[in-house]
Amino acid sequence: MVMTGGTSGFGAIVAERLKGGSARVILGARRPESDVDTFPLDLAELDSVRGFAAAVRDDLGETPIDALVLNAGLISPDADSRTVDGFETTFAVNHLAHYLLLRLLLPVLAEDAVVTLTTSGTHDPATKASLVTPRHADAELLAHPDRDPDREPKASKAGQHAYTASKLCAVLTARAVAERHPNLTALAYDPGQVFGTGLAKDLALPLRIAWKVMGTPAGWPVRRLSPTLNTRSAAGNTLADLVFGLQTPPDGHTYAALRRGNLTWIELSVQARDDKLAQTLWNDSARLVDFPD
Ligand SMILES: NC(=O)c1ccc[n+]([C@@H]2O[C@H](COP(=O)([O-])OP(=O)(O)OC[C@H]3O[C@@H](n4cnc5c(N)ncnc54)[C@H](OP(=O)(O)O)[C@@H]3O)[C@@H](O)[C@H]2O)c1
Repeated sequence: MVMTGGTSGFGAIVAERLKGGSARVILGARRPESDVDTFPLDLAELDSVRGFAAAVRDDLGETPIDALVLNAGLISPDADSRTVDGFETTFAVNHLAHYLLLRLLLPVLAEDAVVTLTTSGTHDPATKASLVTPRHADAELLAHPDRDPDREPKASKAGQHAYTASKLCAVLTARAVAERHPNLTALAYDPGQVFGTGLAKDLALPLRIAWKVMGTPAGWPVRRLSPTLNTRSAAGNTLADLVFGLQTPPDGHTYAALRRGNLTWIELSVQARDDKLAQTLWNDSARLVDFPD
């Protein structure tokens, strides 16, 4: 099994569960973990993604990968930072890097492998989250938001758009994988609202503090009002259950959303169910990461 984002947040619980299974687990991470195979991976550098995929393939030899868990992610305070490849950082880490890793590892996945991409319900206007929802999933404009004629003038809103749009891309990518590789189980997983993880660490200080406090017992009076609330443990264990096939999607479903401890298979947003958008995103992403089609 190969996983990103297993070093903190609810991903650490997933990694722990995977380690308890019979299959070998390889984590891609910026810093090594002591008790599991960790290969260096910085998703903010496409060369690092290429190096990681090559190291995994080299290490596993003929052994196919039975689960690919693409869980890492971040949210930035704005859409101003760029990766070494010149792409907006949130979109590059959350979508482009994972897309490239997926393309590089698809040929060595087991016939019936499970592929999960962690998304966020904030991409869907129906969730009524407080973040700006995606206006589009145009990879070129998301990689270069300064070229977007309708970009949000306010920095924090531009940062939110970069995040929610990258998470729309995760849902569209899961759909594209399912369409192209019907033998695989491809899922986008929304863990709901999981306070107290490291996700807010790059945001402004008041938001960081609020996020942290909401994750403690003191945050309960407010936290309990969230319609999508989940504990770290529920979010991690549900993703692990999906990876192990202990929970399986109903036919045709590629979007799993955890709502107050219950796994639901809710309808896709209007954008997420757009076949043409999924196809265009797949092709444009390949071009941006220089992946020959
Ligand atoms: N918490 C929520 O309410 C919520 C809601 C919806 C979706 N999500 C999604 O759930 C996933 C996990 O989030 P979390 O809340 O558990 O946050 P978290 O504690 O910050 O975990 C994020 C993980 O991503 C890794 N990561 C970030 N940037 C990376 C990079 N450049 N290269 C390699 N790894 C990188 C982090 O590694 P380091 O340890 O090196 O930082 C960490 O393992 C994310 O995709 C997030 O968008 C979270």
